[in-house]
Amino acid sequence: MSKTLAWLTLLALGLVFGGAQAFAAEGKYTGVKDCGRCHKKELMGDQLGAWKKMDHSKAFDTLKSDEAKKIAEERGMSEAPHESDDCLRCHATAFGLEPDQIHKKPLKISDGVQCESCHGAGSGYRKKKVMSDRDKAIAAGMWEPGKDEKICTACHNSDSPTWDEAKGFDYEKMKEEIAHPIPEHVKGKYLELEKEERAKRKAAGGSADDDE
Ligand code: HEC
Ligand code: HEC
Ligand code: HEC
Ligand code: HEC
Repeated sequence: MSKTLAWLTLLALGLVFGGAQAFAAEGKYTGVKDCGRCHKKELMGDQLGAWKKMDHSKAFDTLKSDEAKKIAEERGMSEAPHESDDCLRCHATAFGLEPDQIHKKPLKISDGVQCESCHGAGSGYRKKKVMSDRDKAIAAGMWEPGKDEKICTACHNSDSPTWDEAKGFDYEKMKEEIAHPIPEHVKGKYLELEKEERAKRKAAGGSADDDE
C-alpha cells in the first residue's frame, strides 16, 4: 500500500469509527431498566441509584437547557439540540440504531448516557450466571471501561462543543467521579450471598423475590 493510500484508509476508518457509535456493532441494547433489575439491589451496591445521580443520566435533558439552545443558535442549527444527531450521538445511548439492534423495548433516548454506553450492549451478557463470570461476560460482549479509556473518549473529545482543551480528559480522575462499585465483600460472591439472603427471608416467612 502506498503511503497516501494508507493515510486515506486511516482517515476513512477514523470517520467511520470516530463517533460514539464506534462500539455499537456487537450486541443488542436492552436498556437501563433491565440492568437495574439486579443492579438496584442494596446487596449489589445499587449501581442504578449511583447512575441516577451522575450527570450521564441527565445528558438528554441537558440538550433542552438554555445553554444547549445557545450552542445550537451559534452553530446555526435548524433542529432543536434534543432532536439533532449532532448532539444526541454523545448525549444518548445507541441513538440512531436500527430496530434490530435493540433487544428490549423501549430503549429510551431520554435515559441519556446509560450503562450500555460504557459497559457495552447487554443482550449477550445480561444473564446472572454469565455476569458472575468475568471472562464469560467479556466473551459475551461486556466491555471493560475501567481499562479502556477509548470508551470514554468516544464522547469526551474535542468534537464536544463544550470541550475544554486545557482541561482535557483525565481518565483516572473522571473514573473516580463516577465510581459505583460492587461492595468489596460482595464482589465475586453475589449469587452465593443472594442465596443466603433468600434463605433467611424464607425462614422469616417472607417472599422469595428473585430474578433470572
Ligand atoms: C439478572 C441479574 C443481572 C442483570 C439483568 C444484569 N447484571 Fe450485571 N451482574 C449481575 C451479577 C450477579 C454480577 C456479579 C456480581 C459479583 O458476584 O461480583 C454482575 C456483575 C456486573 C459487572 C461487573 C463485572 C465484573 O466482573 O467486573 C458489570 C460491569 C455489570 N454487571 C453490568 C451490567 C449491565 C451494564 C447490565 C445491563 C446490560 C447488567 N449488568 C445486567 C447480575 C445482573
Ligand atoms: C456516550 C457518550 C459518553 C461516554 C461513552 C462517556 N461519557 Fe462522560 N459524559 C458524557 C456527557 C454528554 C456528559 C455531560 C452530561 C451532562 O452534563 O448533561 C458527561 C459527563 C461526564 C462527567 C461529569 C463531569 C463533567 O465534566 O461534566 C464525568 C466525570 C464523566 N462524564 C466521566 C466519564 C468516564 C470516566 C467515561 C468512560 C468510562 C465516560 N464519561 C464515558 C458523555 C459520555
Ligand atoms: C463528541 C461528543 C459530544 C457531542 C457531539 C456533543 N456533546 Fe455536549 N457534551 C459532551 C461531553 C463529554 C460533555 C461533558 C462536558 C465536556 O467535556 O464538554 C458535554 C456537555 C454538554 C453541556 C453541558 C456543559 C456544562 O456546562 O456542563 C451542554 C449544554 C452540551 N453538552 C450541549 C451540546 C449540544 C447542544 C450539542 C450539539 C450541538 C452537543 N452538546 C454535542 C459531549 C458531546
Ligand atoms: C460513563 C460510563 C459508565 C456508565 C454510564 C455506567 N458505568 Fe458501570 N462502570 C464504569 C467504570 C469506568 C467502572 C469501573 C470499572 C473498573 O474499575 O474496572 C464501572 C464499574 C461497574 C461495575 C463493577 C463494579 C466493581 O466493583 O467491579 C458494575 C456492576 C457496573 N459498573 C454497573 C453499571 C450499571 C448497572 C450501570 C447503569 C445503571 C452503569 N454501570 C453505568 C463506567 C460506567
